[in-house]
Amino acid sequence: MTDIKFPKGFLWGGATAANQLEGGYQEDGRGLSIADALPGGPERFKIASSPDFNWEIDSDKYTYPNHVAIDHYHHYQEDIALFAEMGFKVYRFSIAWSRIFPNGDETKPNEAGLRFYDHLIDECLKYNIEPLITISHYEMPLNLAKNYGGWKNKQLIVFFERFAKTVIERYGKRVKYFLTFNEINSAAHFPVMSQGLVPNNGANDQKNVFQAWHNQFVASAKAVKIAHEFNPNIQMGCMILYATSYSYNANPVNQLANLQHNQDFNFFCADVQVRGKYPSYTHRYLAENGLTEADLDRTPEELDLLKQYHVDFISFSYYMSSVTETTGESDETVAGNLMGGVKNPYLQASDWGWQIDPTGLQIALNELYDRYQVPLFIVENGLGAKDVVEADGSIQDDYRIDYLRSHIEAIAGAINDGVDVMGYTPWGCIDLVSASTGQMSKRYGFIYVDLDDEGHGSMARSRKQSFYWYQKVIKNNGTDL
Ligand code: BG6
Repeated sequence: MTDIKFPKGFLWGGATAANQLEGGYQEDGRGLSIADALPGGPERFKIASSPDFNWEIDSDKYTYPNHVAIDHYHHYQEDIALFAEMGFKVYRFSIAWSRIFPNGDETKPNEAGLRFYDHLIDECLKYNIEPLITISHYEMPLNLAKNYGGWKNKQLIVFFERFAKTVIERYGKRVKYFLTFNEINSAAHFPVMSQGLVPNNGANDQKNVFQAWHNQFVASAKAVKIAHEFNPNIQMGCMILYATSYSYNANPVNQLANLQHNQDFNFFCADVQVRGKYPSYTHRYLAENGLTEADLDRTPEELDLLKQYHVDFISFSYYMSSVTETTGESDETVAGNLMGGVKNPYLQASDWGWQIDPTGLQIALNELYDRYQVPLFIVENGLGAKDVVEADGSIQDDYRIDYLRSHIEAIAGAINDGVDVMGYTPWGCIDLVSASTGQMSKRYGFIYVDLDDEGHGSMARSRKQSFYWYQKVIKNNGTDL
C-alpha cells in the first residue's frame, strides 16, 4: 500500500438513511413514505416493478421491515454513543421527509418531527461528531407519489423547496454539510425510490424520468440557494451512485459504448449539478431514449437557477464496478447495485453478486476529480454480508475488514494522486434494512443488531470485530490498517 497520510481533519464516520433504520413509522405525527410501501424480501424490486403495483400496503400478503427497522427512533442515543466510541468525526443520516411534512403538501411542518432531529443533532454534537444530512434519501411522502405522480410533477419542486428551507433554517446553524438527493442518477435503472415512479404512474416512459430529473435538479439548486443565503459556511453536495465502468475489451466499439455509458450513468446528473448546465451529449442521451430536448419542460428561469446555484462538492456511493459490452462477446452476467451487467473475469463478487473492486474506487476518485475539480466525499461504501454470531457472542467479520481495508488503501492511493477527498462514511455503520432486498440478513455494520428478516429479535446492539478495527483506523488516521 501507498504510505500516504490522510489529511488532518479527514472526516471518518459512517452513513445511514432514515427509512432503513429509524422505524417509528407512525410516531409523533409521521406520515407514510414510499419506503413504507415496499415489501421485505428479495422480490421487493420485482414487486415494485410490476404493472399493477400501486403503493398499497398489504400486510396480509407482505411484511414491511422499514416500519420498525432497527428502531433507531428510540435507540438513537445508544447508537450515537457507539459511533462516538468508534471515534466517528462525522455521521451521515437523512431526514424522513414525512416526519416533517407528513403528506408532503402541507404548508406547516410537524414540530414533533423537527424536534426528533434536533435531539439527534445535539447528541452528535455532544461527542463532536459533525452531522452530514441527506435531505432526501429514497423516501418521499407516499402522498406525493400516489396523488401527484412523483417527481415528474413540477409541484414537487415547491414542496421540496419548503421542506429543504424548513430543514436548513432549523438545523443550518449547527450543521455544515447537506446533500440534496441520494443517488440521484439511480433513476436510470430504477426510478421507484428516487423519483416515486412505478409503471403505474409512468416509470416506463423515459420522458417522465428525464422530466423528474430536471425537476430534481431545479429543486436541488433552490436548496443550494437557500443554504448559501442562510449561512455561507454551509457546504452543499450532490450525491451520485458511482460504479466505475470498464470496456469489456479493447474493441473500439465497446470502448465507445463504455465512454457513453459513463457519460449517461456516472456523469449526467453531476454534470448538471456541479457544472450548472446540461452537458453537450444530452441530445444523444435523449435520442437514445426516443426523446428530443423539446420533449422536456425546462424554462429559461430554471436553467438560470441551475447555472447560479451549483453544488460545492460531490458525494458518491461506491460499492462495485461494472463492464460495458455491446458486441455479444460475453454471455456471463452478474447482479449489482440497481444494475447488473457482464461479468468481469478479474473480480470476485459478494454473496449478492456485487463485483468487489477496490482499484475501481481509486479510478472513480481520479475520474471525478479530473472532470470536476471539486472536493469529493465517499459517503457510502461497504460489503453486504451474512454475519454469524459465535457461541461467545462475538462476530468475526474479517471479510468486511478486508473489503474496507482495500478500499481505504484505494482512497489513500487517490489522495497520493492529488485528489481532494473530504471524508469516508461506510454504509450501514450499524446493521439496517437493505434498500434493494428489504433484508436484515444483508448486513453492512460495525455494530450488529439482533433482528432477523422476519422481524424477530431483541434489537440488542453488539460490537463486531470490525468495530474495534475501524476504531483503530480512525484513531491513527488511516496510518495503520
Ligand atoms: C445505496 C443506497 O444504493 O446502497 C442505500 O443509497 C443502500 O440506501 C445501499 O442501502 C446498499 O444497498 P442495499 O440494497 O444492499 O441495501
